[in-house]
Amino acid sequence: MDDRIVSTGFREGDDDQEQSLRPKTLRDYVGQENVKQNLHISIEAALKRHESLDHILLYGPPGLGKTTLAGIIAAEMGQNIRITSGPAIERPGDLASILTNLADGDVLFIDEIHRLSRSVEEVLYPAMEDYALDIMIGKGPTARSIRLDLPKFTLVGATTRAGLLSAPLRDRFGILFRLEMYNPEELGSIVRRSAGILNVEAEEDGILEIARRSRGTPRIANRMLRRVRDYAQTRAGGVITLDVARQAMDMQGVDALGLDKTDRTMIQTMIDKFGGGPVGLDTLSAMTGEDATTIEDVYEPYLMQLGFMMRTPRGRVLTPNAYRHMGVEAPQGTGADQMKFDL
Ligand SMILES: Nc1ncnc2c1ncn2[C@@H]1O[C@H](COP(=O)(O)OP(=O)(O)OP(=O)(O)O)[C@@H](O)[C@H]1O
Ligand SMILES: [Mg+2]
Repeated sequence: MDDRIVSTGFREGDDDQEQSLRPKTLRDYVGQENVKQNLHISIEAALKRHESLDHILLYGPPGLGKTTLAGIIAAEMGQNIRITSGPAIERPGDLASILTNLADGDVLFIDEIHRLSRSVEEVLYPAMEDYALDIMIGKGPTARSIRLDLPKFTLVGATTRAGLLSAPLRDRFGILFRLEMYNPEELGSIVRRSAGILNVEAEEDGILEIARRSRGTPRIANRMLRRVRDYAQTRAGGVITLDVARQAMDMQGVDALGLDKTDRTMIQTMIDKFGGGPVGLDTLSAMTGEDATTIEDVYEPYLMQLGFMMRTPRGRVLTPNAYRHMGVEAPQGTGADQMKFDL
């Protein structure tokens, strides 16, 4: 899925651009009002007390701004950030050396924190709770453990799947924030801001069209903006108008609601072969060639946000909205209709 323009994942070449478009302050961070309000209070309180901030867990689908928010948290606290990820910390010793090299107040950002191994997690527990590191010295009956003090750091963990976090780890976070998909107005603000930074002229209609086709996801909105800019500059007078935005995104195979060929194939197959569902996750995966995790983390959240699909105990079911979008009349007695009785 990584060569799809609507893919929510991070892609090679996005790096520099993502850095430059990334807001650096809470004030520039668009949307997520509830998260921002709570964060603002926690930060202000911690600063007033001259204490480090509570450990924070950020979760939600890819590309919604978790990494960005971690950077902002450190900046608003006036502290340094140290960035690593679950898969990068292979052994308990790796984590121990990261922890002992932190300074008071530092923010330690662990991306994909659900992928930490159990043995590494166990080092994290006393570190989070007591700012302490337990080290075993010696082996066998003479082995003893000594406790080292750690600086008062703040752990910011990010995950696309809070459900995969072990309970003991999740419980040690004082603050949990779930990031939500953005509405078209919020995405519009993001595109407007990015167009300013990229120095491309964009009309309001064009901006909103990009926003509408960005699947509620800032990363996609920014990527789409760059593709539309390319098109505008090479095929159309350099200005992003409504028509230019539409043509450019149509050419990328992205429809009016942001669905691309893979989404539409999935929906169409569910209609043609399964009467709209219920269809199991494994079947969806076989139909699209995407792995089940990607379908759960990336495709379904947006289709559910659109009200096109529902998750039921028996599988995924299309709603009449999905039929309508595909230009197909929803037959009576389809999965979508039966849902009334199933739920
Ligand atoms: N609230 C926001 N306001 C403005 N821009 C945003 C916002 N959230 C995200 N962005 C933009 O979207 C891009 C992707 O965000 P980010 O890398 O923080 O997502 P993520 O949640 O960490 O994704 P992943 O799960 O893939 O790591 C950033 O470069 C940033 O420019
Ligand atoms: Mg990230």
